[in-house]
Amino acid sequence: MAKPILVANWKNHPSSLKEAKTLLAKISKSSRLYKKLHFFVAPPTTYFETVSSRPKSLLNLASQNVFVDLKGSHTGEIGLDILKSFGVRAVIVGHSERRALGETSKDVSLKVKTVLKSGITPIVCIGELTKDLDGGHFEFLRDEIRESLDGIKRSDVSKLVLAYEPVWAIGKSATDSISQDDLVQTVIFIKKVLTDLFGRILAEKVPILYGGSTEPANAETLFSNTGIRGFLVGHASLDAEDLKKIASAML
Ligand code: PGA
Repeated sequence: MAKPILVANWKNHPSSLKEAKTLLAKISKSSRLYKKLHFFVAPPTTYFETVSSRPKSLLNLASQNVFVDLKGSHTGEIGLDILKSFGVRAVIVGHSERRALGETSKDVSLKVKTVLKSGITPIVCIGELTKDLDGGHFEFLRDEIRESLDGIKRSDVSKLVLAYEPVWAIGKSATDSISQDDLVQTVIFIKKVLTDLFGRILAEKVPILYGGSTEPANAETLFSNTGIRGFLVGHASLDAEDLKKIASAML
């Protein structure tokens, strides 16, 4: 059985390098636990050096975004060569908070292809905007997956990670998150879409993560028998104790 995957998406937090160092020091105290996982921390880029100085056996550095072009001059952007030089091993692509700023699924597919060329793992985010108990979100998800993975070579499919993050569940609390039953159904649906695109054998190789108010209170329920391989955790990853409890729930 492959190790579960845990991605701590710090977004634009903590608000100082000092606090980031304190958080890392607390996380490092549970290194025996995190070694049992594929554990990634995606900090603001200004904290890359600090996070990457931690042993690879504890954590791997991830980026929250990448610029789409490999060459040229692009003020304010960060390209793959810089990410690589810090030892970045995975890049979150198409997070809903970036899509809300105008990133389209077409942009996402271009970024995914760029990332794949470099040997870094793209963690491709998808998720419907509003809760739909009648299943209307399935069509939305199908289109978003197809467009976000458009043009990916079959030989690259096994290098992808997909993160299902229903936007309505992000940044809330465990009680507002998705139910276990709904997650099971949606994961089955995502697997079906991947199978239609790439065939069953390749589709099975794509780990599916869940993100959206994962907290200690719901981590075990959402991880057990739902078909996911791990979590992309936002706010709870800024609390070392909560993150530790989520990590433990996956083992
Ligand atoms: P959340 O964020 O855990 O705070 O809901 C998840 C995410 O946006 O990746």
